[in-house]
Amino acid sequence: MKKISILEIYTKNNYLNKQITIGGWVRSKRISKIGISFLTIYDGSSTRSIQVIAKKSLFNYSTEIIKLTIGCSVIVSGNLILSPSDLQTYEIKANHVEIIGWIDRPDLYPMSAKKHTIEYIRYFCHLRPRTSLIGVIARIRNAVFQSLNEFLVKNGYLWVSTPIITSIDTEGSGSMFQVSMLDINNQVNIKKNTNKENYFFGKKVFLTVSGQLTLEAYACALSKVYSLGPTFRAENSNTKKHLTEFWMLEVEKAFSDINDISIFAEKLLKNSINFVLDNCVSELLFLQKKVDKNIIFRLNNFLNINFVNIEYNEAINILLKNNHIINEKILWGEDLSSHHEKYLVNNYFKSPVIIRNYPKLLKAFYMRMNKDKKTVSAFDILIPQVGEIIGGSEREDRIDYLENRMIEMGLNKENYNWYKDLRKYGTVPHSGFGLGLERLILFITGIKNIRESIPFPRTIGHADF
Ligand code: 4AD
Ligand code: MG
Repeated sequence: MKKISILEIYTKNNYLNKQITIGGWVRSKRISKIGISFLTIYDGSSTRSIQVIAKKSLFNYSTEIIKLTIGCSVIVSGNLILSPSDLQTYEIKANHVEIIGWIDRPDLYPMSAKKHTIEYIRYFCHLRPRTSLIGVIARIRNAVFQSLNEFLVKNGYLWVSTPIITSIDTEGSGSMFQVSMLDINNQVNIKKNTNKENYFFGKKVFLTVSGQLTLEAYACALSKVYSLGPTFRAENSNTKKHLTEFWMLEVEKAFSDINDISIFAEKLLKNSINFVLDNCVSELLFLQKKVDKNIIFRLNNFLNINFVNIEYNEAINILLKNNHIINEKILWGEDLSSHHEKYLVNNYFKSPVIIRNYPKLLKAFYMRMNKDKKTVSAFDILIPQVGEIIGGSEREDRIDYLENRMIEMGLNKENYNWYKDLRKYGTVPHSGFGLGLERLILFITGIKNIRESIPFPRTIGHADF
C-alpha cells in the first residue's frame, strides 16, 4: 500500500476513517494496564507525530511490538480515527505493525528519551536530526533556501554557479584553505614540488571564500545574478557566530548603486522572514515553547520596522559619546566589535542598522572609492542576536582606481587580469552583497549557537562526518 506522510494526514483532510500506511520511527511507547501499546511515531515531514494504538490481538504483539524501544523504525497500517483524547487530533488503530529496524542496545542509544544538552547531541550530528529541535531547524533551513530562490527569480535574477576551487583571495584576508593533491605527510615531496608543473592546476589553488568576483563577470553581461553555495574561511574565530564552512547567498546587479542594492537587501531579508512566518507555523510554535517565547513577536517586529541607515562616521560618533556605557574603546578607522554592534542595534537604535561608507583600510580591494578618498562605498547590515548578517558594496568600476587599490594592497596583478577586463570592456557601475545563510537561520530560530543551524558544522578542530 502507498505510504503517506504524517504531514499529509494533518494537511489533507481526506484520510479520516480510511485505511492508511505510514513509515516512521518510535518517539515514545506506553503500555496500558489492559495491555494496549500506545506508540508515538514521527517521520520528520512535520513537527507533529501520530499516536498508534496497537492491541494485543496483533499477531506480533507479544513477540515484537512489546519489545519496541525509542528509535526503532516501523511501517504501520491501520484506520485513521479522531482521537478521543484532547492531546492529539488523530490516531491510527493499527492492524499491522511491521518492525523494519531494531535499536541495537537501547541502553546505549544516544538519542534515547533522556534529555541531553544541545552540546552533547552535537557529537552525534548523524543522529541529531532525529530530535524534534534539529528536525525543526532543518525544515526552516529548507524554507529559507526556498524563499530566497523564489524571491530572486521573481525579481528577475538568474542563478549562476560560481567555482569552489579558485586561485583568488576575493576578500584579501589570506584566510584560505589551500587545495592540493600532494602528500602533506611527505614533506620532502612537498619541497620538491615547488615547480609550477607539479601543481595539478599549474598554480596554487584554494577553496573559495566568496564567489563574488566571478559573479561580477556574469552581472556585467546578464545584469541581475545570484549564487548560493558553500564558502570556506580558515579563520581562527571560535565563536557562536562563525563557521569554517558556511553557505553564502551572493547577489550582484549591474547599473546599480549602494542605495538601490541595500534597499533590495532589506526587502530580501524581510521576504524570507515573512515566508517562514507563513509556511513554518508549527515549527515556530515549537520554537516558541522550547527556545524563544518571543519568537513570533520578534519576527513580526522585524517585518514592520524600517532599518536605520547611518554612515560609519556617525556610528563612531555615537560609540564615542556613549563609551562610558559600552566600556570598550573605538577610534575612527577601527572595525566595530560585537559589543559595539550590539550596543547600536539593541540599545541605541533598537532596530536593524545599515552602516555605510567604511574606511577603505577595513574593506576589500574591489569596493568603490568615495570622493573623500578615505572611505569606500560599502555597507554592512547588522541585526539583533546576530550582528553582521550582510556585507556588500558598490564595486570599483574605474580601471585606474582599481589598479591603484590592487597596488596599495599588494595583490598579485597577474591573477586579476580577467577581472580588470570587466572594467576595460564596457564597464558598468554595479553593486552586490553576500548574506550568511546560517546567520539568518540563527536569527530566525533564536538558537544560541550557529553550529545548530547547519547539519554538519565545520569549526576549528571539528570536521567529523
Ligand atoms: O562580509 P563578507 O566577508 O562578504 C563577502 O564575502 C563579499 N564578497 C560578499 C559579496 O559582496 N558578494 O561575508 C558575507 C556574509 C557576512 O555578512 C556574514 O553573514 C557571512 O557572510 N559570514 C559568515 N557566516 C558564518 N561564518 C563565518 N565565518 C562567516 N563569515 C562571513
Ligand atoms: Mg563582512
